Amino acid sequence: MDAESKQQHVHAVFESIAPKYDFMNDVLSFRRHKAWRRFTMRKMEVQPGQKSLDLCCGTCDWTIALAKASGGEAVGLDFSRNMLNIGQAKVDKLGLGGQIKLVQGNAMELPFADNSFDYVTIGFGLRNVPDLMQVLREMKRVVKPGGKVVCLELSKPSWQPFKGLYYFYFEKLLPLLGKWLVKRYEQYRWLPESLAAFPDLQDLAERFRQVGLRNVRAYPLTGGIAALHIGTKGNDGA
Ligand SMILES: C[S@@+](CC[C@H](N)C(=O)[O-])C[C@H]1O[C@@H](n2cnc3c(N)ncnc32)[C@H](O)[C@@H]1O
Repeated sequence: MDAESKQQHVHAVFESIAPKYDFMNDVLSFRRHKAWRRFTMRKMEVQPGQKSLDLCCGTCDWTIALAKASGGEAVGLDFSRNMLNIGQAKVDKLGLGGQIKLVQGNAMELPFADNSFDYVTIGFGLRNVPDLMQVLREMKRVVKPGGKVVCLELSKPSWQPFKGLYYFYFEKLLPLLGKWLVKRYEQYRWLPESLAAFPDLQDLAERFRQVGLRNVRAYPLTGGIAALHIGTKGNDGA
């Protein structure tokens, strides 16, 4: 699939599954994603007043967690209007409209100035973009010197027999659950397809280094089915 087709496909997938996205996340990950998000926030050590940008924010769970943790400003960016509408409803319900701004835009080309944010995050989004190096370069560009680029994403378990069992679930059963529960087989087939071409734990850490991020840390989660990567932009801005 070429870059343009991938982008259009991904956009169509999320426009279509938006109303059921949160429910299906809980079901398909056996609620593990909530533990991964809590682990991530602990490792980030967000400080009061810090400003964050959450790319591919979708229904905004991470954007909201960032705003709550800092008490400061958080910006969420996503290209799916339907996903953002659900996120905006959550933000409004929590009374966080003064802190959180949602922007419809493309993670490949960020509408923000250089050195603007203390944290730039991307949750389960990097696997979906047409060019992950371009997105990492953009994340590094808009984070402040000394700030952090953080990616929480599905990854590739390596040890048997867990690996075999997991891939049977992920590739065969998961799309069927999408079909049975929310009538979206093709959309949930995208999940294993998108992981196939995505780098594993060490390879993604190397990509972080290649864009110039420093002190890169990579944490496998739940036997390696997900991973957290954190990199720091040099204090010299390089
Ligand atoms: C799997 S969801 C993740 C949502 C949220 N970050 C979370 O942790 O639940 C992926 C999101 O990335 C968005 N997305 C994918 N490619 C994008 C791009 N190039 N620019 C902006 N958003 C994109 C989709 O619209 C979708 O909302």
